Amino acid sequence: MSEPSLAVNTRNPASANDEFVALRAKMHSAAREVDAVLEQILPQPRGLHRRILESMRYAVFAGGKRLRPFLVLNCSSLFDVERAHALRVAAAIEAVHTYSLVHDDLPCMDDDDLRRGRPTTHIAFDEATAVLTGDGLQSLAFAILAAPESHPSAAIRCELVARLARAAGHDGMVGGQMIDMEAGQRHFDFGQIVVLQRMKTGALFEFCCESAAVLAGAGVEHQERLRNYARDIGLLFQITDDLLDALGSTQSAGKKTGKDASQGKATLVSVLGVEGAKQQALKLADACAAHLEIYDQKAADLSRLATYLLIRDS
Ligand code: IPE
Ligand code: IPE
Ligand code: MG
Ligand code: MG
Ligand code: MG
Repeated sequence: MSEPSLAVNTRNPASANDEFVALRAKMHSAAREVDAVLEQILPQPRGLHRRILESMRYAVFAGGKRLRPFLVLNCSSLFDVERAHALRVAAAIEAVHTYSLVHDDLPCMDDDDLRRGRPTTHIAFDEATAVLTGDGLQSLAFAILAAPESHPSAAIRCELVARLARAAGHDGMVGGQMIDMEAGQRHFDFGQIVVLQRMKTGALFEFCCESAAVLAGAGVEHQERLRNYARDIGLLFQITDDLLDALGSTQSAGKKTGKDASQGKATLVSVLGVEGAKQQALKLADACAAHLEIYDQKAADLSRLATYLLIRDS
């Protein structure tokens, strides 16, 4: 494993190295599986509208970490959900996530020209195409969930559609992005930034984990436990994203770093400082493991993921 640049984890990361190498191998293999499903779903460019298919494929097949699919797949394994169903939900959430990144990078939002190690979609194509790419990916996600291949029960498919709509919409990711757009001009306190992060990033994480319980028809207590894990790992993830922005390198992150400070964005790093944010992230990793105790070894990778995120450099 390459030398981590963040090293939020002060609990002897060296001894955990083998575990993290194994976890990364599992993440790569899950990414390949979900990519194969996305490859089947996203048509090859054709017809008069071939440019939109080219740009959707450009944005999706750019080597993202596929972290949200990993959450769907691993939470689904807790309940022995059929792999093909979990993979389609994983493909749907990755489509929504990629749409959110394409729009997040637009000049009217974060104005970034590098994403996943290559030019952002509006740079590689143009702004109108990037807006349409996001729109196309969002619609695609709902088409995936609504199709019978995602689950034989129409009621469960409908529930997944409703939950993704909520997670991605005004009370979820889009609402969080709205607050984030104001985070350069307004002062936000700690609690308000937590709300911002839980909406812009956490809501999609919640969908990933809860959808597994929905696919399995598992009871509300499982849904609640997974929601709590998702909320905490989502916040941890966004804190480490903000730490990467403050401390990481553009080369390993595959996106420009140092942007939050230059745009005066309120983040947990800006309110707590680097050390305070690291302590917060460590506490959240403990909380993640505690939420999953009841699943014992079946949840080992989900617990380890929280600790791994602490030392990620991309
Ligand atoms: C970046 O997400 C956007 C945030 C929510 C912070 P990821 O770091 O998961 O991006 P990819 O999918 O790996 O490119
Ligand atoms: C983006 O947050 C969150 C969403 C796309 C919903 P950031 O703006 O911090 O993500 P990066 O740092 O550009 O990946
Ligand atoms: Mg942003
Ligand atoms: Mg951004
Ligand atoms: Mg960021």
